[in-house]
Amino acid sequence: FSAFLTDSFGRRHSYLRISLTERCNLRCQYCMPEEGVPLTPKADLLTTEEILTLARLFVKEGVDKIRLTGGEPLIRPDVVDIVAQLRRLEGLRTIGITTNGINLARLLPQLQKAGLSAINISLDTLVPAKFEFIVRRKGFHKVMEGIHKAIELGYSPVKVNCVVMRGLNEDELLDFVALTEGLPLDVRFIEYMPFDGNKWNFKKMVSYKEMLDTLQQQWPELEKLPEEESSTAKAFKIPGFRGQVSFITSMSEHFCGTCNRLRITADGNLKVCLFGNSEVSLRDHLRAGASEEELLRVIGAAVGRKKRQHAELFLMCQDPPPALPSTFRNSLHV
Ligand code: GTP
Ligand code: 5AD
Ligand code: SF4
Repeated sequence: FSAFLTDSFGRRHSYLRISLTERCNLRCQYCMPEEGVPLTPKADLLTTEEILTLARLFVKEGVDKIRLTGGEPLIRPDVVDIVAQLRRLEGLRTIGITTNGINLARLLPQLQKAGLSAINISLDTLVPAKFEFIVRRKGFHKVMEGIHKAIELGYSPVKVNCVVMRGLNEDELLDFVALTEGLPLDVRFIEYMPFDGNKWNFKKMVSYKEMLDTLQQQWPELEKLPEEESSTAKAFKIPGFRGQVSFITSMSEHFCGTCNRLRITADGNLKVCLFGNSEVSLRDHLRAGASEEELLRVIGAAVGRKKRQHAELFLMCQDPPPALPSTFRNSLHV
């Protein structure tokens, strides 16, 4: 495995997340303000060719999984083409996408043909009116259609990301669990994380322990599944159910020790940690004509500086939490 992608704690970074756009067709309250986020001028965004050049380099060095993210990746006009080209990279085993599901039912047949292998869909409520309140747009039925299309086309499990917020959707946990009885879903309850300007506060966060407790009261037979390597999720299953439920405990129990992720933002910055603000522009090096070796040195140096964990995040779990550190430039879930 490449030394350039191995950090000083021995973590091997074989999973690359590439943001295809900063734009989004929804305005989820926990992610974006109503007016949207400031957009980078188009000329500063990575071109498709640049994305593929970088992907090729990372895969050559040992990346075997790429996830396309956003903003909303399915609003990039050439997303199907990008998947098709990634598919040709030898050594790349998984091409995933994290989407809000609005355009999924329409695009999935083409995406599947192009080689898309894994799908994560955001859905925070099963109540249409509440959906419109949370995402500030219409589209609940389109998302449900997307979920069913993914199942119909054989994706298994289809992951459903549910950010749990007190006073908003924490009363729906058991309804989400019920979905897994007949459908091959992995419903993932996510602890609400603070990002720049997302109105996070400690009291709105529902911890993993609390969510697990709610589930166990209703389903004492809830069974813990073995941990998958470098997974962000702790998985459980109710015996006899087709699907499973998981928890993403970014706040209360970090998973930095087994982190294998790197990220490239839509404007071409390499981020070695979701919650770090040290970014290095690969785009600028590419455009300055850097050779592969030069790029790898830049990447290797950034990976080498990756911290063992992002301590600020866990401090936020104190009651009362400290002020939000200035490092949270994270309104995009890259
Ligand atoms: P898989 O590739 O299927 O394991 O998905 P994933 O969980 O890595 O990615 P997804 O895009 O579905 O994100 C689900 C949740 O995990 C989101 O709330 C992300 O913010 C969070 N998440 C993803 N990567 C990281 C990470 O490196 N650190 C932390 N703390 N949270 C992450
Ligand atoms: N806290 C936790 N998860 C979040 N996401 C977006 N914002 C937040 C937040 N503040 C999730 C979305 C999407 C995933 C990539 O990140 O629901 O599914
Ligand atoms: Fe869009 Fe995803 Fe943010 Fe919602 S969470 S506003 S779907 S980018």
